[in-house]
Amino acid sequence: MQTQRIYNGPYYRYDLPLLQRTIDASLEASKKYGCKLFYALKANNESQIINQIRQSEIGVDCVSAGEIEHALNEGWSASEIVFAGSGKTIREIEYALAQDIGMIHCESAAEYGIICELSEKLDTNTQVALRINPDLKVETHEKISTGEKHHKFGMAFSEALQIIEQNSNIVGFHLHVGSQILDMQYFEDLSLTVRSLIAQLPEDFSLEYLNLGGGLGIDYTNPQRNLIPDFDGWMSALRTHLPSNIIELISLEPGRSIVGQCGQLIGEVQYIKHEDSNPTAILDIGMTELLRPALYGARHKITVNKDDLISQKYTVSGPTCESSDTFGNNHELPPLERGDLLIIHSAGAYGSSMRLNYNLRNVIPSQFITETVSTYLKQKVA
Ligand SMILES: Cc1ncc(COP(=O)(O)O)c(C=O)c1O
Repeated sequence: MQTQRIYNGPYYRYDLPLLQRTIDASLEASKKYGCKLFYALKANNESQIINQIRQSEIGVDCVSAGEIEHALNEGWSASEIVFAGSGKTIREIEYALAQDIGMIHCESAAEYGIICELSEKLDTNTQVALRINPDLKVETHEKISTGEKHHKFGMAFSEALQIIEQNSNIVGFHLHVGSQILDMQYFEDLSLTVRSLIAQLPEDFSLEYLNLGGGLGIDYTNPQRNLIPDFDGWMSALRTHLPSNIIELISLEPGRSIVGQCGQLIGEVQYIKHEDSNPTAILDIGMTELLRPALYGARHKITVNKDDLISQKYTVSGPTCESSDTFGNNHELPPLERGDLLIIHSAGAYGSSMRLNYNLRNVIPSQFITETVSTYLKQKVA
């Protein structure tokens, strides 16, 4: 007897038990190394996901007034919010100060002037940390690397020193050198850089806060082999060169590493084109649902809900009117036909939070699975 196939259109599917295992692993490492965690809300802002993170007593890293408002509405207290962003507007800074959030990460001398002016006007005393651009190269996609001199993020350490010399309300520093970093050597390099910066601080400066950002990568190639990222290795690498009194101050902002592997995007094959030369499967999902491949050429593992010994190489593409709307070529899949359901793996981070309104396509729903999903290979989507 054939099982009835139910598919009401594309959706995101989240494995909440896996999310909890990932949160637990991050907390275990953070307790071991004494780091405070702030989840980077930009990675995924779905209520069910972030509630689980908030209930685990992880703070939140926001990059807009909208994210601060969302975090407050979802139950984070203002004191657990840190606020970064290279282009904060006056209205956003005013809003953050009025809420009395935990920390503002200030990215330039000009922004610092505005923060001081508005703090005086609103009579608030929100703590400020300076975001330093350490001019450090890391190996990741150039579009998600943020710590080199030419990047728009943060200020030169010399500029930070000038601010410190003239003002007494700076409590520390923030650095974030990039995302999807898998080689721990880069976090060790960051640790060495921070050590040398700290050594240059004026003697009377009291360092109370050191946020070393996010950036821990996940395994997009073989997610099933590495579902839980290496939080221990990350935190251990960041401490390598720091003196013990500084280690105690470290806070971190993981985004992708917390939510990346618990989310999958499910879509259906609509048409097969160029069957003989370069078979291309056109789906009912694409760059509007998951932008990363079109934006950075990011590659996600794709599987299908059927077993077959034969496999074939497919280009897998989306439906919108852009040639860049593709999940890439050479995806090894069993022979596909119209109606097959494909699973795009590791789509929990920078997936639904980056979705587009382009072509006025419908916003797809999310499904939250609360019991452990069967193993990766056996997953059924309908
Ligand atoms: C300042 C800052 N902190 C944290 C993050 C989160 O990074 P990830 O998702 O790689 O952990 C980002 C991501 O771009 C960021 O810009």
